Amino acid sequence: MSIFINEANQEFHLQNKQISYVFRVLEKSKQLEHLYYGKKITHRDSFSHLIEREVRPSSNMFEGDHTSSLEHIKQEYPSYGTTDFRYPAHAITNQLGSHVTTFQYEDYQIQKGKPTLPGLPATYVEADDEADTLFITLRDPVLNLRLVLSYTIFSNRPVITRSAKFINDSEEDYQIENAMSTSIDLASDQFELLQLNGAWARETHLEVNRLATGIQAVSSTQGASSHVHNPFIALKRPETTEHTGDVYGFSLVYSGNFLGQVEVDSYGVSRVMMGINPFRFSWKLAPNQSFQTPEAVMVFSENGLNGMSQTYHALYRERLARGYWRDRTRPILINNWEATYFDFNEEKVLEIASTAKELGIELFVLDDGWFGERHDDSSSLGDWFENKQKLPNGIKGLSEKIEALGMRFGLWFEPEMISKGTKLFADHPDWLIASPNREPSHGRNQYILDFSRPEVVDYVYQMMDNIINDAKISYIKWDMNRFMTEVYSKELPADQQGEVFHRYILGVYSLYERLIEKYPEILFESCAGGGGRFDPGMLYYAPQTWTSDDTDAIERLKIQYGISHVYPLSAIGSHVSAVPNHQVGRITPIETRANVAYFGTFGYELDVTKLSDAEKEAVKKQTAFFKEQRELIRQGVFHRLMNPFESNETAWMLVSSDQNEAIVGYYQVLAKPNESYKRIKLVGLNPDKCYAIEGTDKTYYGDELMNIGIILAENFTGRADEYWSREKAGDYHSKLFVLKAL
Ligand code: DGJ
Repeated sequence: MSIFINEANQEFHLQNKQISYVFRVLEKSKQLEHLYYGKKITHRDSFSHLIEREVRPSSNMFEGDHTSSLEHIKQEYPSYGTTDFRYPAHAITNQLGSHVTTFQYEDYQIQKGKPTLPGLPATYVEADDEADTLFITLRDPVLNLRLVLSYTIFSNRPVITRSAKFINDSEEDYQIENAMSTSIDLASDQFELLQLNGAWARETHLEVNRLATGIQAVSSTQGASSHVHNPFIALKRPETTEHTGDVYGFSLVYSGNFLGQVEVDSYGVSRVMMGINPFRFSWKLAPNQSFQTPEAVMVFSENGLNGMSQTYHALYRERLARGYWRDRTRPILINNWEATYFDFNEEKVLEIASTAKELGIELFVLDDGWFGERHDDSSSLGDWFENKQKLPNGIKGLSEKIEALGMRFGLWFEPEMISKGTKLFADHPDWLIASPNREPSHGRNQYILDFSRPEVVDYVYQMMDNIINDAKISYIKWDMNRFMTEVYSKELPADQQGEVFHRYILGVYSLYERLIEKYPEILFESCAGGGGRFDPGMLYYAPQTWTSDDTDAIERLKIQYGISHVYPLSAIGSHVSAVPNHQVGRITPIETRANVAYFGTFGYELDVTKLSDAEKEAVKKQTAFFKEQRELIRQGVFHRLMNPFESNETAWMLVSSDQNEAIVGYYQVLAKPNESYKRIKLVGLNPDKCYAIEGTDKTYYGDELMNIGIILAENFTGRADEYWSREKAGDYHSKLFVLKAL
């Protein structure tokens, strides 16, 4: 049993072996009071001893009762306008312009398993005993508006998911101005806020700050989750490390504008909320209609940040990603973007593909530039038919030739975009997202199709379907290279313009869903100029994401370290590219480039025909190595060991579920002379097993590796001239250690 109800006190306790979540109904106002969220506590018949009240100078709801101020009550899904001055979890305006709400408890329902959220991505179960779901129904009696809060607790994971649904039982229209997916008032402000920030080509950089009194937030207003912030925050205790201590993670299964906010009040309470960004959002709720928020996924870990990440990894890999590729070995791919950019033809493509095949690569991906008159980024988006000068045999002919080489073929699309000068633009000049009477701004010379309109989505589906149906396509890279300004849809009335952002992303989801349904065996990789839409929503449709347009191995240490806080390696697109690197000009050894890219989906992004023989030999070894290790890499338990944001070194490792195998990646950015002795302390191994380190004659017990560590110093002979004569590793040095239990 994972949901206990204390009927007499109207208390709810969601509990599994790891976590507890407790809340109750307030006796008089019938609103919800939050009592506890964290490590599992014993269930009891009453939790009234956890109620915390003080008489304070404040507004109170009930006459004569000086403790009924909601300002001082920790809540579940707070309203605005009834004595609480903090930011609310929802805001509704009625036709009189009033925005006060008071949702009062009506009843509850428990369901085995976890229902889906129609039209929205969400975590799921495959058997009903994997989770239980509690629905709490509340009603605002004045508005006759119903609110259903859903709480799912997974049986064997320290995870609670939450979402909210508003149902209009009245005869009036309402405007929802804010509808968070989750809100929780934690009884402490002794936390650090961890967030993943960035920009194009330097996504998901880790930032940790002590919580301050007041509001701190991450968000997007760009129409996509964006490069700037990931839809994720964590609250950790100051003493929490990678391996120990408490941390609360909050992740939103959504790809549009989001808000993750913490408000620390004057009494040491941290109100955490996450959901669609209320900025420019409003939703007209007509009678009998409902509005469902996306899902927030809350993870509690008492085993530090790695504990939290491992929970997210397993959940997102096993119960968010779906379909044919979820549990399958992913192909090693080569993408021609950095090899040729727009400058290719069939001959060049086949030359790259056949060399790649010889090197052990399994899938060739043709990136941007195959359609219309696309010779640079200024044209042709929306004209999804092949350029016959570049590809005289079309995509069909090319895909057949690639398959004849014994490789699979993949293709790039940017379905949501349109360039001026295209046939699509000539036929449908009014399909853009653009504000009336204003010139829309472009980004990368392109404009955005209004995916909030179903007819636009239908049309794009038809164009894509024509290409896919005709050719042998095993993989699609779905790109999106600009964000939204001047957001407006010509089809919606003025009082519904606040719906455009959300309707747009629902349109994106619906196109994905249709394509997946028709082509279940195509592997989708999502992309938005790299990691501009690396979010859980996308993972529901595309099991892997192109992590960043920055392919430099050293830059990738930070990006991949950051993204690994939430997302499994099976989702992290990572490739070996050419040197000097195209983003930063850095020259790193080909071994280091691979040693970083292995910790993801692995592939190449360079012109393999230009490699020297020695480099080709190195690539052959790399593809062979990855094929041997890729199941461990895809499914192993990942641990971060040394943080690139804090030092010159990075280390991380993977351990198989039976603890018989492990791979450790160690990276040193700059070389140092006459360095201190170094060890890499491992974690997650079996202390009693003895492990051999491949390629050496060394063996270590698990307890040695976890308490002493791998000793990095080589055993030299002691010859006097040895220091000067020995080969120096140089900058950007890395090492992989492959461990096997004897
Ligand atoms: C941005 C992507 O992140 C790149 O990998 C590449 O596909 C380009 N777009 C193509 O325009």
